Amino acid sequence: MFLFALSLFFGSWLSSGVSLEFRYHNSAEVESYLREVNNTYEFTHLHSIGKSIEGRDLWVLILGKNPTTHQIGIPEFKYVGNMHGNEVVGRVLLLQLIDYLTRGYLEDQLVTRLLNSTRVHILVSMNPDGFESSSRDCMYSQGRFNKNGIDLNRNFPDAFSKESVPREVEVRAIMDWLTTESFVLSANLHGGALVASYPYDNSNKGSELQGGSSITPDNDVFIHLAKTYSYTHTTMHKENQCYDSKDFTDGITNGFKWYPLPGGMQDYNYVWGQCLELTLELSCCKFPSESELPGFWDANRGALLAYMQQVHLGVKGQVLDADGNPVLNALVEVEGRRNLCPFRTDINGEYYRLLLPGNYTFKVTIPGHEVLTETLAVPYGPGSFSALSHNFLLQRAEATTPSPSTTQPPQSCTASLIRAYLGDHSPSLASRGLTSLLLLQALFSTILL
Ligand SMILES: *[C@@H]1O[C@H](CO)[C@@H](O)[C@H](O)[C@H]1NC(C)=O
Ligand SMILES: *[C@@H]1O[C@H](CO)[C@@H](O)[C@H](O)[C@H]1NC(C)=O
Ligand SMILES: *[C@@H]1O[C@H](CO)[C@@H](O)[C@H](O)[C@H]1NC(C)=O
Ligand SMILES: [Zn+2]
Repeated sequence: MFLFALSLFFGSWLSSGVSLEFRYHNSAEVESYLREVNNTYEFTHLHSIGKSIEGRDLWVLILGKNPTTHQIGIPEFKYVGNMHGNEVVGRVLLLQLIDYLTRGYLEDQLVTRLLNSTRVHILVSMNPDGFESSSRDCMYSQGRFNKNGIDLNRNFPDAFSKESVPREVEVRAIMDWLTTESFVLSANLHGGALVASYPYDNSNKGSELQGGSSITPDNDVFIHLAKTYSYTHTTMHKENQCYDSKDFTDGITNGFKWYPLPGGMQDYNYVWGQCLELTLELSCCKFPSESELPGFWDANRGALLAYMQQVHLGVKGQVLDADGNPVLNALVEVEGRRNLCPFRTDINGEYYRLLLPGNYTFKVTIPGHEVLTETLAVPYGPGSFSALSHNFLLQRAEATTPSPSTTQPPQSCTASLIRAYLGDHSPSLASRGLTSLLLLQALFSTILL
């Protein structure tokens, strides 16, 4: 009997692969866990996208059928945790998610379909230095900032603000990462509230400002994405879950409407990365006791999976010239959605556009060619784990004459070009928002989220 129990114990221990407890793991433990996962499962790939100020690697684990390289038609998805070092639930959830995905691949239907159709990138901690210096406190800010005392979620280039601040190495690492992968969908995990917040976080008092919200051209998609999370989460969609909740109808909010924030990561992803990103606030208490962690996993597991599946919304494909060669840097625009920086095809001539089901007119522009216009009927992609595939075929191959057109959009989308496009509203809400935020930061460091 004893031997039988023993063999059962070892049997299950062996078959379970790498094990992961519900507790807070420090940076060294996270690294050795990720290395073990990387060595155990051939559908994972571990790499570092840079180092923190104190020299800790920013480890990214990639999961997918082909983890090491991008495949045409396979969208890139990412989760980023622990940007504020003292907001730690997301960090724990991402480790649990890795555990769940690695155990579930080729066992669980949803996990298998997800990883066969998507390349998933997980950065467990963007601010490991902050985590290591955190106090285990629900509200205070000890550990929030990086080693230089900088709030990483105020340190990105901002389309609406003129502030020019030096970039921290952790922020630079994210910016470089966005140029090496064409991310389509992302979320950034925080704590201190329970809500799914969507761009913009900032405004220049221009046409984006509507009824107190700062609205993107893809607002319908963002609201759908935020509700996907809040309604799949066990309680987020019920309002007023935390002591100081604002009016979070449906458990979602426009970032700016909640409070203006310059230099945030979600706006940067969207404006310059062509990647739709949400900021998910996952716990009222920023650093809850370890005994509560299994409950947080139960509350978020379904939502984390459902959100990833939304990477298959809309349309994807390539822009090809008459010889069938991929066209780099073609503008792929959807009528009625004027993005600050128009979406462009990448090095593979690929584009991805997240859209809700409906009919949309696409306009594809490259120098030396006539503008190609096509209307597509877009179904609901997530159900079949694939967006609608559609390639745009350019009829005329010769692109020898440089375009004389003055309406030709700029080849790179810089902050000053965006400001020229937006018109300069001065003094901007953005800088006023910054001043009052700094003031608040000094007076009530506890309320920052
Ligand atoms: C991941 O695993 C592969 C194959 O076992 C190995 O070659 C590689 O060095 C590992 N990467 C890291 C960062 O440990
Ligand atoms: C996923 O891909 C694997 C490896 O190619 C394959 O064996 C499996 O049948 C696929 N499963 C599903 C559900 O697509
Ligand atoms: C899209 O257009 C088709 C006809 O091409 C029409 O049957 C369909 O109802 C339209 N769908 C929507 C959502 O407007
Ligand atoms: Zn935060």
